[in-house]
Amino acid sequence: MNIDTLQATARAMVAPGKGILAMDESSPTCNKRFEALGIPATIEMRREYRTMLVSSPGLGEYIGGAILFDETLRDQTTDGKSFVDVLNAQDIVPGIKVDTGAKDLALHPGEKVTEGLDGLGPRLAEYHELGARFAKWRAVYAISDALPSQACFSANAHGLARYAALCQAHDIVPIVEPEVLIDGSHSIERSFQVTQHAQQTVFEALADQGVDLRGIVLKPSMVISGAEANNRAGVDEVARETLRCLLSTVPPAVPGIAFLSGGQSDEEATMHLNAMHHAGVALPWAVTFSYGRALQAAAMTTWAGQSGNVDSARAIAFHRARMNGVAALGEYSPELEKAA
Ligand code: 13P
Repeated sequence: MNIDTLQATARAMVAPGKGILAMDESSPTCNKRFEALGIPATIEMRREYRTMLVSSPGLGEYIGGAILFDETLRDQTTDGKSFVDVLNAQDIVPGIKVDTGAKDLALHPGEKVTEGLDGLGPRLAEYHELGARFAKWRAVYAISDALPSQACFSANAHGLARYAALCQAHDIVPIVEPEVLIDGSHSIERSFQVTQHAQQTVFEALADQGVDLRGIVLKPSMVISGAEANNRAGVDEVARETLRCLLSTVPPAVPGIAFLSGGQSDEEATMHLNAMHHAGVALPWAVTFSYGRALQAAAMTTWAGQSGNVDSARAIAFHRARMNGVAALGEYSPELEKAA
């Protein structure tokens, strides 16, 4: 493990005014999103779509890293360049999703544990050869009155920590992603409680496995009311409670925190990030975005599988990347949103 390399990579991923583009949907997930829009679920369409996403001139001004799915890391754009080369040419660090998905947690109905540790070492060695310099592993926690169970917290923390240690041993920065799901009618207080415990358990497991916190990026969910809750907390409260949680769990050695969007609307996700930079608290880490849906949804709808729509879809994807890049500096405003 070379901590200087890991640290330099992590810093580049979350450099000031930059965040991470999550475009690592597995083929089944990508197909599901295509089918909902009437787009043919084929590898050719996935290639065309992802070529559109990565080929905005200037994208590297706002995006420091892009998370790819295995298919894309090995693939070429529609004009025959490797995706890895196209990203590197824009100073965007290429990354790879390496977990094999959230599977039912035995004896715990309604809960999941993320799999993918078997054979991960050799896979990481190959991904490094192919050009990936960081990886992603996502654990999910569902909230109900009774859930998550301690079994869910500890199994997922263990998986994340073993994955992170393997990544660092291969000079790949692990994105550590504990996602507390937004589904449900829970309060923001309950979201705080679950998110804090998930993060505490994860950092304990990272310490147990000897992971060097200077060479990771944390990708958390925000502390937020359930999607179906009454009287959902407003933007400032989400920002305040999210930071209160993170300041209680995340050591300052961690170079960056890059949020997932987790089903928030595009503009909501941007406003929450922006508000964190106006909460009046000093932040010991970079605080930015690693959005999937909140960066892509509008662009995918506009593209709709038609090559004639590529330019407008690309402009929309670029706009969202820019709005979030600006929000990562606390400089976003509704006027800026509208001006485009
Ligand atoms: P969303 O921003 O759509 O939640 O996706 C981020 C991600 O990478 C989930 O693993």
